[in-house]
Amino acid sequence: MKKTRISIIGCGNIGLSILQGIIKSVIIEESDLIVTRRNTDELDHLKNTGIRITSDNAEAVRAGNLIIIAVKPYNFKNVLSGIRNHLQPRKHILISLTAGINIAQIRKFVPVSIPVFRVMPNISASVGGSISCICYDHASKRECEKVSSLFTLLGTSMFIGEELMDSATILGACGIAYTF
Ligand SMILES: NC(=O)c1ccc[n+]([C@@H]2O[C@H](COP(=O)([O-])OP(=O)(O)OC[C@H]3O[C@@H](n4cnc5c(N)ncnc54)[C@H](OP(=O)(O)O)[C@@H]3O)[C@@H](O)[C@H]2O)c1
Repeated sequence: MKKTRISIIGCGNIGLSILQGIIKSVIIEESDLIVTRRNTDELDHLKNTGIRITSDNAEAVRAGNLIIIAVKPYNFKNVLSGIRNHLQPRKHILISLTAGINIAQIRKFVPVSIPVFRVMPNISASVGGSISCICYDHASKRECEKVSSLFTLLGTSMFIGEELMDSATILGACGIAYTF
């Protein structure tokens, strides 16, 4: 079985929470984690952990197979344009955490030969307490299991229809959700 290598593109608040949760789970080795942001100085605290840090998104895509996009909506188009030619069928699964960008919009950059997932987690992922809602397009049962098992490491995960994703975003980010 192919080794899982995870690339987090846009390692800010949610990207870092996911990373911390993955590290805590000890299922994935640090050497199989690649993170990016433009200002990599902000990730200096990850130096000497074995995690690969780069500002080169294409390099992160080439090195990984689960590609998690964790940038803000206004950076999404630019990031996808920069990595689209590096995505390979049967190698890559694309997972977008970006709120408000739907699968139809993602498909403008990513062909149907690449499975696409949208996931709405929250920062409790860092302590294994996220409730992550997932929807997908053109993915096999095995690919769905792969993505759901990753987010189950970070808390609870559940598949929902894409039409419920906006509601899940609001519910997951509200104060009551954090209290619970
Ligand atoms: N925060 C949450 O709890 C949460 C939960 C679920 C979903 N989300 C969604 O996740 C997305 C990110 O939210 P956030 O709160 O984590 O925002 P954030 O803290 O601003 O993180 C976004 C990161 O993207 C990086 N970035 C921007 N352009 C880039 C590029 N071209 N290449 C590589 N990295 C780039 C930024 O760093 P540089 O400026 O250094 O590049 C920044 O660290 C949003 O769409 C949000 O809706 C957030």
